[in-house]
Amino acid sequence: MRYDFDKVTDRRGTDAVKWSVGEHELPMWVADMDFATAPEIVAAVKARAEHGIWGYTALPDAWYDAYIDWWRDRHGLTLERDGLLFCTGVVPAISSMIRRLTAPGEKVVIQPPVYNCFFSSVVDNGRQVSASPLVYEGGEYHIDFDDLERKLADPLATLMLLCNPHNPTGQIWDRETLARIGRLCAEHRVTVVADEIHCDVTDPGADYVPFASVSEVCRQISVTCLAPTKTFNLAGLKTAAAAAFDPSLRDRVRAAIHADGVSELNAFAADAAVAAFTQGGEWMDQMRSYVAANKRRTEAFLASEIPQVKATPSQATYLMWLDCSALPGDKAGLGGFIRERTGLFLNAGSLYGDAGRDFLRLNAACPRALLEDGLDRLKRGVLAWCQEKG
Ligand SMILES: Cc1ncc(COP(=O)(O)O)c(C=O)c1O
Repeated sequence: MRYDFDKVTDRRGTDAVKWSVGEHELPMWVADMDFATAPEIVAAVKARAEHGIWGYTALPDAWYDAYIDWWRDRHGLTLERDGLLFCTGVVPAISSMIRRLTAPGEKVVIQPPVYNCFFSSVVDNGRQVSASPLVYEGGEYHIDFDDLERKLADPLATLMLLCNPHNPTGQIWDRETLARIGRLCAEHRVTVVADEIHCDVTDPGADYVPFASVSEVCRQISVTCLAPTKTFNLAGLKTAAAAAFDPSLRDRVRAAIHADGVSELNAFAADAAVAAFTQGGEWMDQMRSYVAANKRRTEAFLASEIPQVKATPSQATYLMWLDCSALPGDKAGLGGFIRERTGLFLNAGSLYGDAGRDFLRLNAACPRALLEDGLDRLKRGVLAWCQEKG
């Protein structure tokens, strides 16, 4: 079956966070998609809704099977039923693990520019951020392993949050890189929380490598966060999982998410996840192709219309990390300026750490007509900025 990703669904008036914007504004910021989810998932949620009783809900066997089969077939990762824990979201799970797996005042290593909640989850829970920034060279990012090792060797560093694939740069970490991270973390007794929420949204032909699939060491020292929510646009349903492999780590994580009250599912959470992972494969493959085409279109547009702005090469996520360093002026105000002048709402790069100052993040998961509107506004905004600051 062919799914229609060109179809524009009006999200105004639905309390969508992304679309809580002015009448003439176009939001291309927060990480959800402007596509209706797979009809198979809509049907499963409707069937549950029509039952009319949405009382306390247990996890069905089908939920475990759906995760285990999807990660085995799609990503070559063996998940274990005992170590697969439901949680209401990846961010709640991360916060909970920070509280349980580290002590107040300890350090959590992250790699900016990175997902903003990595900073807030650490700070809000009374721990310290230990940043090992990615190095930006020749238009691409890589890890400075000397710096990373220094940060991991600090006796106060007890946890690392790994974003795999990486938000906002859209990078897929290769096996060697992940193995090296695993060796260093094991050597310095640092537990890894691998946030793999973006793992399915890769360009066709480009597959992510699950951290826990790289080696026995990586498997034993890590907890992996998984979800159908980015892939199938279900963020509002609050349905995710944490997978731990080492029995004692697994028990601690289970206790943590239980104590924090984030292990209880709503009546739609399991059915939606099961429908996604058992019936959503074809929808997802078509969505990946559509999103990849949007990303290529954006790159081509930038190259021909606003060559001062460059998209960093990315093989994963529907997010595009736009290098605006060649533009004049202090780019800290660029996102706000573009929004004010054109109504296009992008994320300011500084949200992902100081290293993101010169960047904007654009969400390309939308029907092509919206993308074209956004690109047109981006061009107008950048030209106005150059006129004013140049
Ligand atoms: C890397 C990453 N982790 C987690 C989340 C959010 O996860 P959840 O909605 O399950 O809390 C996002 C959303 O943008 C994200 O980019």
